[in-house]
Amino acid sequence: MSWGIIGGTGLNQMPGLELLGREAVSTPWGEPSASLVRGRLQGQEVVFLARHGEPHRIPPHRVNYRANLWAMQAAGVTRIVAVNAVGGIDPAMPPGHFCIPDDLIDYTWGRDMTFFEDSLDAVVHIDFTHPYTLRVREALLNALQAAGLAYSATGVYAATQGPRLETAAEVRRLRNDGCHIVGMTGMPEAALARELGLDYACLALVVNAAAGMDEQPISMAAIEAVMAAGMDQVRDILGQVVSAG
Ligand code: HPA
Repeated sequence: MSWGIIGGTGLNQMPGLELLGREAVSTPWGEPSASLVRGRLQGQEVVFLARHGEPHRIPPHRVNYRANLWAMQAAGVTRIVAVNAVGGIDPAMPPGHFCIPDDLIDYTWGRDMTFFEDSLDAVVHIDFTHPYTLRVREALLNALQAAGLAYSATGVYAATQGPRLETAAEVRRLRNDGCHIVGMTGMPEAALARELGLDYACLALVVNAAAGMDEQPISMAAIEAVMAAGMDQVRDILGQVVSAG
């Protein structure tokens, strides 16, 4: 029952992790984004992977999600917290707010999004009714509650293609579709985790108001400031989650 952490933008490294080793893994699907970092967090062994590479260099549509998930499982990981910086669509989710989504809509295209396409004995259709694993979501919610942070316990994550941000009309559409937050890396990661039978949930930190939801243009400087503060809290939450067992 080993924990894996996939760190997104703002979390390429995991300070506070007592380093046990680094493993360069190659998989039948190619190379993962970075070496896996094996370490101890709050006394528990965890495996950390920087989704965009270390240093951050792989854009969302170029991440080898299949290799990343395969490598995590090969390293003995059975449950994953995926950390994602997102835009807030719901006005109740301003910058600095956390969300543990319970559902998602996939707007990405052209990504390698399944392990089940070649050399199959039979066609496979995973059940993806509830894309995030309840017990991992609950562990995150307990940690957020204990830390006294502002969060939403549910939400629909819109996975967009990127790497550009959305237009105002696209965000209006996402809102009409019932989405609360928007990011570029939530899919196919969640589906691939399910295909491998891994428990998986998303810890989303809102770093900006989604396009058109605020009068201000989206500023990278403002995003980085929110991210710097929020990622310290993310580290505390992750420590709490893994130490809870
Ligand atoms: N849109 C898509 N992805 C994002 C955003 C956004 O507004 N903010 C951070 N990741």
